[in-house]
Amino acid sequence: MDKEVVLVLDFGGQYNQLIARRVRELAVYSEMVPYDIPFAEVQAKKPAAIILTGGPASVHIKDAPACDPRIYSMGIPVLGICYGMQLIAFQLGGEVKGSQLREYGRTLLDAVGDDLIFKGVSKQTQVWMSHGDSIDSIPEGFSITASTENCPIAAISNPSSKLYGVQFHPEVRHTIEGQQVLKNFLFEVCKLKGDWDLSDYIEEMIQAIRDKVGDKKILCGLSGGVDSAVAATLVHRAVGDQLVCVYVDNGLMRKDESEQVIRTFKDQMKMNLVFADSGERFLSKLKGVSDPEKKRKIIGEEFIRVFEEEARKLGEIDYLVQGTIYPDIVESGTKTAQTIKSHHNVGGLPEDMKFELVEPLRLLFKDEVRIIGEKLGMAEEIVWRQPFPGPGLGVRVLEEVTPEKVQILQEADHIVREEIKKAGLDREIWQYFAVLPPVRSVGVMGDGRTYAYPIIIRAVTSDDAMTAEWAHIPYEVLDIMARRIVNEVRGVNRVAYDITSKPPGTIEWE
Ligand code: XMP
Repeated sequence: MDKEVVLVLDFGGQYNQLIARRVRELAVYSEMVPYDIPFAEVQAKKPAAIILTGGPASVHIKDAPACDPRIYSMGIPVLGICYGMQLIAFQLGGEVKGSQLREYGRTLLDAVGDDLIFKGVSKQTQVWMSHGDSIDSIPEGFSITASTENCPIAAISNPSSKLYGVQFHPEVRHTIEGQQVLKNFLFEVCKLKGDWDLSDYIEEMIQAIRDKVGDKKILCGLSGGVDSAVAATLVHRAVGDQLVCVYVDNGLMRKDESEQVIRTFKDQMKMNLVFADSGERFLSKLKGVSDPEKKRKIIGEEFIRVFEEEARKLGEIDYLVQGTIYPDIVESGTKTAQTIKSHHNVGGLPEDMKFELVEPLRLLFKDEVRIIGEKLGMAEEIVWRQPFPGPGLGVRVLEEVTPEKVQILQEADHIVREEIKKAGLDREIWQYFAVLPPVRSVGVMGDGRTYAYPIIIRAVTSDDAMTAEWAHIPYEVLDIMARRIVNEVRGVNRVAYDITSKPPGTIEWE
């Protein structure tokens, strides 16, 4: 791939993946690498620019994370964000000190002078800060380009060396003009063209899959989730009938989910789809089990066994499609992509079943996967599907899972999804679903007393599931959902709405 690349050196801050995503939204390919990447590797990647991320450390601690300082004299632009800016100052002879005044949250930033990085940005603008240390004195050749009330050195630059730093986080939405700052860095400072185009990616990937797979058979485990669905569609475009998809219905899917998968992939897209109807098998294994981790383990292992049985029936298979996406790779260790081998046994499958992996989405963020799905003409209901945990409703029926409880939950969850969609909130809410707790409460319906289950509605907004806020759904929408659930779902007499954010809660209840 002969494209402009921005290297994002990861110092461990919580918003780091967002930085790489925002750069890609501006049509520039970005790659996340560990902060201590050897200098020779940086050179080999021929980056057009480098961004140093934020991170939890202080430059003063022993063995503070630091990049090779030779990157500052490569002649390519460097932007340091938060810890990244402090590191630039520290490594080039400035001073950083622990500040009495920690700044956390929204604050107003005043731009000083006419630095390129603030071109088109209001002289006073709201930014998001999250830091303890601050720069006390700047290195030679730099000037101060912005300040806030508690942070006199909130941005620095050295245009002749193309080195820039901002103490705030331009990548988060709370920094209102943050995207303009990143845009200025990429296009005003670095003078990039912006050549990251997902249509090209599709064409290149289709060719790469054809070259790799040849005329061999390739298998895909389809979960109904966005990633595996887009991966399968891309592979299908490349090699057609050589692809066989296996879909395992574990009995813990949402209402109508399996029908939708069959309709989409088998009927509309004419893919070879093996449908393993295994609900009873999973539910009998789960009988009497109430520990969440045990449930997860049972469901995961059973999935592998069913998949293995179906795969064996298909005879010789050489390749396996996986819907691995870029965050899976970045998150699997700060030592990142290099440690993940593309040829290995797939977790849990027997030793003799070795496949070569085909991971057509491994360079993409979730938003990009959705765009690829749209470009491939996939149905909106699949492309914009909310994230769904592998163990499915098994972790939303709390404690012991029974067929009756699964059915109650499916009905209630269906109503939640339907009403959120009707209210036009389905794209802004990250996940929205129903949970069935293992308690019952007293109610009154008609002339009679009831003793039945409550349903908990859970809905959160999030960027990446690492943190989440409970969604402020209008009362009217909550009201309709609650009425419908109690009236339409037998066995339910009460509805509660979970108003806990993550942290301290998690998105799921188990
Ligand atoms: P929590 O509950 O930890 O969830 O805030 C974070 C995100 O991960 C999803 N999730 C899972 N996904 N297998 C999965 O594939 C699991 O066991 C699992 N548990 C949670 C959850 O839906 C949310 O998007």
